[in-house]
Parts: sequence; structure tokens; C-alpha cells
Amino acid sequence: MSASFYQPDTVTCNGEQFKIFINRQQIDERISQLGEQLDKDFADKKPIFIGILNGAFIFLADIMRHVSIPCEVDFMKLSSYGDEKVSSGQVTELKHIDAKIEGRHVILVEDIIDTGLSMNYMVKRMKEENPASVSVCSLLHKKEATKFDVQIDYVGFEIPNAFVLGYGLDYAQEGRNLSQIYVIDKEND
Ligand code: PRP
Repeated sequence: MSASFYQPDTVTCNGEQFKIFINRQQIDERISQLGEQLDKDFADKKPIFIGILNGAFIFLADIMRHVSIPCEVDFMKLSSYGDEKVSSGQVTELKHIDAKIEGRHVILVEDIIDTGLSMNYMVKRMKEENPASVSVCSLLHKKEATKFDVQIDYVGFEIPNAFVLGYGLDYAQEGRNLSQIYVIDKEND
């Protein structure tokens, strides 16, 4: 028998305590709504989803399975946080897409938009390649923390400025395999 999804109520990751914040049902329902919206907005446009590694891999996999129009996928890898909880302030491009996106409808997929640094960079970078359109889809958005100019077309959840983990999001590379989203538990510091 295969193991169940990894979804405890609380978890310790790299010595920090986290508690449940957004559960599987909430994630599934919201992704299903986003998928329906994308089906409508991109019907006959054959969009290309571009996931920003590493964090977006789980959200991207789930959202693509809720989309029923013809579509493609590619990946870009950036890093701004390293193993820290606070952004370094600089974006490093570690892998560029392989696809040719000139004239294509691009949907950039992120797990989270925090300061907006990464997505601000990504949108500009994609536009250099003359796509037909660039849309932004992020599972999470920390509105209070966003300092860079980013237009977010599809957002799963607006969240407060707290450190979150799971469902692709890491703390020093661990915790991405949690199937729900957790928030740091300050009461147990
Ligand atoms: C995280 C996340 C976003 C970015 C958001 O990536 O996946 O790409 O930070 O923060 P920002 O809005 O302040 O730029 P990270 O650099 O931690 O790499 P990862 O995706 O491999 O976790």
C-alpha cells in the first residue's frame, strides 16, 4: 500500500515549529477555481505555463491538472533567498526556459510572491522575448510585504507577512514535501 500524503497538524522544520495554516481541502478548492478561470481566459490560446523552480513545482503540477485546454510547460530557476528566511535582494538566474515564447501566451507560475523581486524580474525577462502576453499566477501573495511592482492576475490566497512552509515552500530546502501550508508558530519560539 502506498503512503498517504504527508499532512501533520504541526511540524518542526530545521528547529522551528510550524502549525497548519491552509489545509488540503482549501488548497484543492481554490486550485480548482483557478483552473476553471484559466480554461476560460486561455481557451484557444494554447498557453505555456512557466514554473519558477524550485518552490512552484507542486502548485504547477496541481494547477495544470485542473486545466483542460491545450497547454505546454517549461521551467525557469531563480534564487533570491538561498537558505535564509529573508531575501538577499538579488535575483540569480540559474536556469532559463528552453521553449521559444515569441508570440506565445505565457503564464508565470509561482508558489509565493513576497517582496515581488523575483516576479518583477521574471516579467521583465519574459517580455524581452516578445511573447503575445505575460500573465502571473501565484498560489500565495504577501501583499503587505510586496515592494516591487508586480501585476498578479491569478492569486490563490492573500496571506499576512509571516513565514510559511510546505506545498513546495521550504525552510533551508526542507519541508517542500508537506502537502498543506504551514505558518511559523511564534507562541512556541
Ligand atoms: C522563493 C519563492 C519565490 C520568491 C518569492 O524562492 O519561490 O520565487 O522566493 O520572494 P520575492 O517575492 O521576495 O522575490 P527562493 O528564492 O526561496 O527559491 P525556491 O523557489 O527554490 O524556494
